[in-house]
Amino acid sequence: MFVKGHPACKKVFRKLLGWPGFGVTCSGTGKSSSRWQILSRGIHTSCQRCTIMPSWVIDSYGNNDVLRFTDNMPFPVINYPNEVILKVHAAGLNPFDVSMRSGYGASALNMRRDPIRIKPTGSEFPLTLGRDVSGVVMECGLNVKYFSPGDEVWAAISPWKQGTLAEFVVASSNEVSRKPRNLSHIEAASMPYVGLTAWSAVKEVGGLNQNNCSNKRVLIFGAAGGVGTFVIQLLKAWGAHVTAVCSQDASELVKRLGADDVIDYKSGSMKAQLKRLPQFDFILDSVGGSTEQWAPSLLKKWSGAKYVTLVTPFLVNVDRLGVADGMLRSGLTIGAKTIKHLCTGIHYHWALFSSSGPSLDDITELVDAGKIRPVIDQVFSFSDVPKAFKKMEEGHARGKTVIDVINKN
Ligand SMILES: NC(=O)c1ccc[n+]([C@@H]2O[C@H](COP(=O)([O-])OP(=O)(O)OC[C@H]3O[C@@H](n4cnc5c(N)ncnc54)[C@H](OP(=O)(O)O)[C@@H]3O)[C@@H](O)[C@H]2O)c1
Repeated sequence: MFVKGHPACKKVFRKLLGWPGFGVTCSGTGKSSSRWQILSRGIHTSCQRCTIMPSWVIDSYGNNDVLRFTDNMPFPVINYPNEVILKVHAAGLNPFDVSMRSGYGASALNMRRDPIRIKPTGSEFPLTLGRDVSGVVMECGLNVKYFSPGDEVWAAISPWKQGTLAEFVVASSNEVSRKPRNLSHIEAASMPYVGLTAWSAVKEVGGLNQNNCSNKRVLIFGAAGGVGTFVIQLLKAWGAHVTAVCSQDASELVKRLGADDVIDYKSGSMKAQLKRLPQFDFILDSVGGSTEQWAPSLLKKWSGAKYVTLVTPFLVNVDRLGVADGMLRSGLTIGAKTIKHLCTGIHYHWALFSSSGPSLDDITELVDAGKIRPVIDQVFSFSDVPKAFKKMEEGHARGKTVIDVINKN
């Protein structure tokens, strides 16, 4: 549907519609050729007259004190025809949210931020954190074919977009997937970011899948956290033999999730304990640091074995050195490490989270089949978001931290 006329009609048009969730964009340049195209369909919302919404935002980077609750955040708008507006029922937290709050990755993420969206203030602030969402589709852009208002969905929103610690969030439809039927919103919000990170590391980068895992020995560092608890279940669903490294108090948890061997990294020498085991085909490292110096030697040599780490200096390099030099430094680092490890007969890779609705569709199948279940450490109410950040910051996660956004008390 097109409405021809001067761009000023945008305001009038919105007033007539009386609902700002109707995204409007301009195509055409001159006054006479300008036209405004309505990009959304389906006004099935309980909030038809909302212009503002509750949200947790930051106005600068820093410690937990920068988190600010506002009920004045502008309601999200559909700017592109492939976008959807979601009502957030629950939002998952990740260590990345704590890092983002402190400014980690700001340079790289600012480079990716949509100028249309940050135009009113000229900066990324006020910035809403939170990547994971489980909720309901409220509005669909005109090109959205796969979803309709009312669909229950889950997603992990790309980190350069406004986040999910808000009543509503806008996402690209290709970031969104139908929520597993057997999960509540709280349970579903615990999985997308860690699930997609695991998917990227294990399947896309690591090349493991349901057809080639049955005789593989896999070692997981950081097994009790969000990523670890998901990866154990994924690899067990695919038939791998899993050795999990975690603290002693988490060993029952990881065994329940299917880990075959459990190593307590705090009791004696972790390296010596692992050296006593048969060598591995695949290592997933979500801990980093000194582990990377010695752990690759636990892999079978010259057999295609892979060391995939989630701890990469990519965003830090861009923050410190700027985009061009930061990317160059990262390229040189990964290049040097790849060659060094290739010479010893193993493959070394970095893996990154990547937002993807289709990958979430695949994960949904595993969840619906009961092969992967949520592991929730703690649920916080929407008013307790700062407490949830504090808990994340303390570390020692045993699964996931989730915010119940619908119940705000
Ligand atoms: N590259 C990416 O795109 C990407 C995406 C997601 C995550 N990550 C990385 O992966 C890390 C883990 O993410 P997450 O969501 O799983 O974090 P998380 O939920 O906070 O879990 C971290 C887990 O690691 C354990 N741990 C700490 N030191 C350990 C060690 N030396 N050996 C074994 N376990 C150890 C912690 O428990 P205890 O301290 O009690 O042992 C905790 O259970 C993040 O910090 C981030 O660096 C990267």
